[in-house]
Amino acid sequence: MTTPPTSPEPCSVDPAGRGFGLIHEVQIEHAAAFAANRTNWDDRAKVHAASQTYDLEGLIADPHRVSDVVAHDLPVLTAYLPGGSLDGLDLVHLQCHIGTDTLSMARQGARVTGVDNSTASLDVARELAGRAGADIRYVECDVTEAATAVEEQVDVVYTSIGTICWVRDLTAWARTIAGLLRPGGVFYFRDSHPMLATLDDLDPTDVRVLHRYFGGDVTLHIDNEGTCTDGDPSLIEHTHSYEWHYAMSETVQSLLDAGLRLRLMAEGRTLDWQALAQMVPEGADWVLPAPWADRVPLSYTLIATKD
Ligand SMILES: C[S@@+](CC[C@H](N)C(=O)[O-])C[C@H]1O[C@@H](n2cnc3c(N)ncnc32)[C@H](O)[C@@H]1O
Repeated sequence: MTTPPTSPEPCSVDPAGRGFGLIHEVQIEHAAAFAANRTNWDDRAKVHAASQTYDLEGLIADPHRVSDVVAHDLPVLTAYLPGGSLDGLDLVHLQCHIGTDTLSMARQGARVTGVDNSTASLDVARELAGRAGADIRYVECDVTEAATAVEEQVDVVYTSIGTICWVRDLTAWARTIAGLLRPGGVFYFRDSHPMLATLDDLDPTDVRVLHRYFGGDVTLHIDNEGTCTDGDPSLIEHTHSYEWHYAMSETVQSLLDAGLRLRLMAEGRTLDWQALAQMVPEGADWVLPAPWADRVPLSYTLIATKD
């Protein structure tokens, strides 16, 4: 366990944690929060690279394989693409992590640039692309600086599952996406639903709203000695990270304010990982059992286009 860059003041939220580390509202300089997040993701990259969940060797061995995340997203995305395919299109993958989804997109014929601010994640991503024989460009920068750092406009901007909770400025995020897209370009977004972050799993027989839905200016401090995959948690030396949660309306409005046209907004009953103890596996995904499955959305998808 590492020492957080500030002394967080514990608040009323989730004193026992949600099984994924202690969560507190804190005051912290954003630069210090981002630095902590980078070192936390650098550590997580090492665990993920060796995990069965990401299964890098399996991806390398089968040149037709795509990650579960991309298998989920592809049919939804391609319905909005000219020609119904990624083949020949330029794509930027924001927050690409260790590059499994990025490689999967490249395998659909797209010319892909992956963006992330974790050096260790991009090291793994570059090695994965090299071993898989894929020509993928990787750019290391904060997601809100990607339009400048990538230096070209593209047909598709893609980001999925584990995204804006590490972005402090949604206005800058949405403007970055608009700046990256050519006219006619398509933005695809999927992530956990903001309602999910309001729930607690302290009582395994119930699902209750315990946390705030509206994010405001609140920074959440999380101390988590593990990660969302199998693997060796002792590799995670930097256990502290910081998140900002956004209401659905804040995310949608940021894209509209950036001049994008909303084309699809969908809510889902499944999620790619077990976020609450009450969730049960369903195929490659996780769901809440009845009666909660019909009461609480777990994920949402947005597609927006640039005129
Ligand atoms: C959950 S992972 C990406 C999700 C992807 N679906 C996956 O599983 O590989 C989140 C990634 O976001 C990156 N990240 C976090 N904050 C960022 C920021 N402000 N700018 C750029 N990348 C960031 C982390 O380094 C990490 O690689």
